[in-house]
Amino acid sequence: MTGSFDSFGSFIGARPRSRHLGDSDSEDWGAFDDDATSAQNPIVVEDAESSSTEVCFKKDFTQPDPISETCRDHILHLLTTGRLFRYQTQTAEHGSAVDEAEAAIARYTGARYAVGVNSCGCGLFLALKSLHVGPGDFVLTNAWTLAPVPGAVAHTGAQVVLVDCLRDTHSICVADLERKWLETVAQASAQQPPRRVVLLMSYMRGVVPDMEAVLNFVKRHNVDMVEDCAHTLGVRWRGRMLGTLGAVGVYSTQTNKIINSGEGGFIVTNRDDIIERAVIHSGSYGHFKAHKMLSSANIDRMSALYQQVPNFSMRMHNVAATLVLSQICSLDDKIAVFNKHLDLLKQDVVANHVSSSGDVLVRIETLEDSDRGDVSNAHTSFQFNVLVSRRDNGSVPKQEEAAMLLAFSEALKGRGVSNAWFGSDWTGFTSTYKHWKYTNASSEGTDEFLDTLIDIPLYHTASWSDEDFLLIARIINEEALALANTVLSVIKTP
Ligand SMILES: Cc1ncc(COP(=O)(O)O)c(C=O)c1O
Repeated sequence: MTGSFDSFGSFIGARPRSRHLGDSDSEDWGAFDDDATSAQNPIVVEDAESSSTEVCFKKDFTQPDPISETCRDHILHLLTTGRLFRYQTQTAEHGSAVDEAEAAIARYTGARYAVGVNSCGCGLFLALKSLHVGPGDFVLTNAWTLAPVPGAVAHTGAQVVLVDCLRDTHSICVADLERKWLETVAQASAQQPPRRVVLLMSYMRGVVPDMEAVLNFVKRHNVDMVEDCAHTLGVRWRGRMLGTLGAVGVYSTQTNKIINSGEGGFIVTNRDDIIERAVIHSGSYGHFKAHKMLSSANIDRMSALYQQVPNFSMRMHNVAATLVLSQICSLDDKIAVFNKHLDLLKQDVVANHVSSSGDVLVRIETLEDSDRGDVSNAHTSFQFNVLVSRRDNGSVPKQEEAAMLLAFSEALKGRGVSNAWFGSDWTGFTSTYKHWKYTNASSEGTDEFLDTLIDIPLYHTASWSDEDFLLIARIINEEALALANTVLSVIKTP
């Protein structure tokens, strides 16, 4: 996109910026600042062009919170024993840290069973395998999600069917889900033997769809729903934890998630048939008998099943589990801080939304989910759409809109506010369904949402102050206004 930015830059009159704080191209969510302690806010930078002063944000969005001293002590102890493999405990009674973490996750989520795995992406694969999804089957999933989700489907050999995601909900369109379901089931049942169709519901960036409609759909069609809860550990719908609403749920504890164990994930379910297969698939060898939450009936069935279920070796290890155990007890407090900060940021951005006095309007649109009484969120990121339009109701041509969004995203990065623009080409963590060509799936209905979507990562901001968020909001508002003003002169140009 840099090429198109250069070619449009002069056209849209984007202001040259001599005040970049780092190489924002190296990582779409901000360059890593080794010297986190030097980060003081705010810093003020002279604008060489206008000789006005401009405030920049200097904290590092990629710097995780330190691991507690107690946890470090536990890990040190573990290292001295060398017993890092979950099935290598000293005695049969002596459970591993992974056993303990599974019990803690099951308790926290209210699920009957949990099994630790090496990542959420692998957990999704194992969940699908546990539902017998394989080559020739179909998996419906959100068009707006992260690459590991279609990747997990591709791993099973099944076909990805994308469901449109909409700007007004940031999540799946239930009408499109219904339509695609009927089409896909018709296709799947026409085959010999008939193929399976399941739903992989991805709560991308923690966004919860109209769950009542989704669960009605699930019930009406008797759908096996896998919940991708990479971002929603701790999120409840009508008091029930996401991940426990369908057949099986999967959480992530990778560093950029609400719990940081480097890599890691958990599969949760209430169903015996799923946990029995998931544990063997995850790589239990014959040690599945050591899983403390399994009953003797589970173990009997698993013994009969064992030789039919492949070992995919995707286990969690004891260091990751120790990191999880040290963070799960303070999870709800952390979530409350995230939500408070997000509300502050969002309110300020919305309250100051921009409109120019000339021919062009720039509007920041955010999701109004905070007001939804049925969902308790865990906001570890912030999304908004930047909508540009002409005051005379004429639309801004697509190419110019893209150039404006790129300029806006780069301007935020230039002032220290990490962000990803989902309308851009793939970069860093960010890609869209258009870049998953191996799936052969498309979802044009989602473009209207993605083309103007900006995403700000907030996973590592729990210790930041209210002032930090007000400053981020101020920078967003100032850059939106700058965008409106730069565009204005262009529109007037014949
Ligand atoms: C929506 C979503 N699903 C699944 C995953 C996969 O998680 P992991 O990195 O633990 O494999 C991610 C990772 O960020 C994600 O954002």
